Order: sequence, then C-alpha cells, then structure tokens
Amino acid sequence: MSQQQLSDQNLSNEIIEGLLQEKPSISPKFFYDEIGSHLFEAITFLEEYYPTRTEKQIIAQYSKEISATIGTCDVLLDLGAGNCQKGSALFPALKPKEYRALDISKEFLEKAISGLQKEFPQIVMQAQTCDLQNELTFPDLVGRKKIFFYPGSSIGNFDPSAALKLFQNIVQVCAGDGGLLIGVDLIKDPEVLNHAYNDMLGITAAFNKNILLHLNRLLKANFDLKYWEHSAVFNEQSARIEMYLRSMRRQLVSWPGGEKHFEMNELIHTENSYKYTQATFEDLLVSAGFKTVRSWTDPQSYFLVTYAAA
Ligand code: AVI
Repeated sequence: MSQQQLSDQNLSNEIIEGLLQEKPSISPKFFYDEIGSHLFEAITFLEEYYPTRTEKQIIAQYSKEISATIGTCDVLLDLGAGNCQKGSALFPALKPKEYRALDISKEFLEKAISGLQKEFPQIVMQAQTCDLQNELTFPDLVGRKKIFFYPGSSIGNFDPSAALKLFQNIVQVCAGDGGLLIGVDLIKDPEVLNHAYNDMLGITAAFNKNILLHLNRLLKANFDLKYWEHSAVFNEQSARIEMYLRSMRRQLVSWPGGEKHFEMNELIHTENSYKYTQATFEDLLVSAGFKTVRSWTDPQSYFLVTYAAA
C-alpha cells in the first residue's frame, strides 16, 4: 500500500469509529475539503459572523504594539493558514525570512502560496499539510526564532485539555525563543453567539452539511443530504457552541463493509467552538509554560488577540 492509501485508510477508520459510537461524531477537520474551505471563507464575510473582522480590526489597531511586543522573527508558522491572507498581513511587522503555511487541505494552500510568492519573492515559502491533533515537530527549524500564528479562534475547536497540549507542544518547539500570536473568541451574549452559527443565508448550514458530502467521497458512503439538518446551540455551562447534524427521519447509511441506522432526530456531533474569558485563556497559556502573555481586545470585548512568549 502507498503512503497515501495508508493515510486514507486511517482517515476512513477514524470516521467509521466516530459514526458507530453511541453518540455519533465526525471530527471538524473533515469540514475542510475544497468546497468546505470556500464555504468557511464565505462564513467569514457574513454579518452575523463577527470573529474574523473583529480580529482583523484588533490586529490593525494595535499593529505597532503587537510588533513591538513580538519583535522580528526568522520563521512565521501559520497554523490553519487557509488563504494565507491573515498570515501575510504580518509580513511587514514581523519581517520573516521564511513563511510556513500549514493546514489540513494542501490544495487550497498551494494556490494561496503561489500568488503570495510573486508578491514577496524574498521570503522562502512552503505549504505543509498538518493535522494539529498530532504532535508538531520542526527538526529543520531548530535554533531559529519561530513565531506561531493561530488566528480565527480555531483553538476554540479544541477541548481545553487538547488546547493545553497544543500550547505545551508549541512551548517545547520554541525552546525559549519566539512564541505564539493567537486569536480567541470571548464569551458574550448567547444571542450574538447563536446568530453567528445560524446565519440567515444558511451558509453555516451548508458548511455543516458539506461534511457529509466529503464523507461520501472518502468512505464511498451514501449520506442523503435531503434528510439532514443543521443545528447549532450555545451551551452556556460548557461555554461552547455545539454543532450537530440532525437526522430528519429513520434512515440507513452504508459504505463498503459497514452501515449505521439513524433514528429520527438522532444527532451527529460535528463541532465544538469554545469561548473563553480573557482570564481563563491567559491562565491556560501560562499553565502550558509560556513565560509572559499580553492581550488586546475590541471595544465590545467580543474577541481577544494574545501574544504568549515562550
Ligand atoms: C474555524 N472555526 C474557528 C470556526 C468556529 O467559529 O468555530 C468554524 C465555524 N463553524 C461554524 N462556523 C464557523
């Protein structure tokens, strides 16, 4: 078996295991096939979805302070880089010699990088497939000052214990130099949160349902999108948006070698999006081993941008 076939097999096993659990789930990393990446990009333009524009405003307003806090760097590592727009906006301030764009879908990254490379020929650029559920190692970057950039509150899609593990991993990779510039969504009025994940155009619903089309391709499964609906609710106790796909009737879904009966109203969990307070988020970073933290926010305290020095 080739490496590619092996990793496809691992992904299929992971998906099937999730579907057959007592409470079925699909990892949110499967949102981001090519269509899913474009749908997510569309979400970031929605009126209801404030995180992207608010983070952009914070970084623009405090760019001088942020760059004075971080200084320049050798390598900028953009985690979940997507279209690379946010990462490349930091080039003038951080003056990286190298830019490494990491994401789950390499196709999408490569398109973005090829455009950027023309604009910034002096920066060495590389696109790298990366699953943040696995340990990060960069043996070729030892001894160089690394700044990790993890914007967009993607950290909210990790359970706090997994977020802590990722932060510890970054502290270790930085080895006493550099750090992490990160954006996170803050706890706020549940109505604002619920609207952000239930937009009027139905783009978030399409983004959620598209995961089933991705599974149909990966598993050769037969999910019928007509019979699944989007659900997203803020769970105040757990401080997270929970996203599900609800089965609209009793149905059987099958794939070569397996099947699963779904009851009417049965849910497949597809995503958690944790929200933090400034204090709980900074505490998490410090408990991971970062030495100092400094944060910036918007006038409504909707979103937080934090630099944690390793
Ligand atoms: C990528 N991530 C930070 C988004 C979020 O808000 O949790 C994904 C998303 N899901 C629905 N809308 C946006």
